[in-house]
Amino acid sequence: MNPIAFLFRSSIGRKVLMAVTGVVLIGFIIGHLVGNLQIFQHPDHLNGYAQFLHQLGPLLWVARLGVLVCVVLHVWAATVLTLENRAARGAEAYAVAHTLRATLSSRMMRQTGVVVLAFVIYHLAHFTWGVADRSHFKENLAHYTMQSEYRVAGFPVVKAGTEVLDVHSMVILGFQSPVVSLFYIVAVGLLSFHLLHGIESMFQTLGWRSERWAGGLRKIALVFCAAYFFFNLTIPGSVVAGRLKQQSAHLVAVPGR
Ligand code: HEM
Repeated sequence: MNPIAFLFRSSIGRKVLMAVTGVVLIGFIIGHLVGNLQIFQHPDHLNGYAQFLHQLGPLLWVARLGVLVCVVLHVWAATVLTLENRAARGAEAYAVAHTLRATLSSRMMRQTGVVVLAFVIYHLAHFTWGVADRSHFKENLAHYTMQSEYRVAGFPVVKAGTEVLDVHSMVILGFQSPVVSLFYIVAVGLLSFHLLHGIESMFQTLGWRSERWAGGLRKIALVFCAAYFFFNLTIPGSVVAGRLKQQSAHLVAVPGR
């Protein structure tokens, strides 16, 4: 069987596909979180970072497409494997069920996965398309003037004085609703829970998990997921607690829109 046919047509191939796309998606969410944490610095940081990403133009679209393809393949492989496991009550299903201890996280993979997917669609509507609530008007966002240059790896990529989107204000306004913030916190909590089993399962599939260090791997996965949850929580949490405030006043939520 050629490698592509192996990935798509065999059960183990689909598990490898899930693990590899999982690695890419974990890379994306870590990068996204690190970028987002710049919200705790001067607005030049988050706004310069968003401007830098938008300046990448076609490269940004290649990256977006890569992430989208990974999401689609991950969900497809998960669905096919679940249906197969349900259908096969024979020896293979027994073996799969006993390779990793069935934890609550492993039994909830489908439910947590579905909520995370719904969250991502809401999140795109909220911050990327600016259509989910009335405090985000993309047309009002192009008013922030960079006060200092933004650098990546020491290279200036956005000059001082450049007019950029005020992503800093947009995120803070977006989290002023406790309901929206709570939804984010719950969704990121479920995503962290999904990752807990996902990481172990990924190591197992790729042959990087042995009985000798299974306990250590579980601890590392736990610490990673707890830290991921905590740092994500700090953003909406700080806005709702009034500790993170909008610094430029031009972007306001217009009632009734
Ligand atoms: C507190 C948590 C989060 C904050 C503050 C946040 C913030 C943002 C912002 C501001 C954007 C729009 C960027 C722009 O258009 O310039 C964005 C896009 C996005 N976010 Fe998040 N995000 C958070 C959590 C997440 C999580 C947990 C996921 C994935 C499960 C995620 C996935 C995405 C995706 C896929 C995009 C679209 C990227 C693109 O358009 O290129 N975000 N996020």
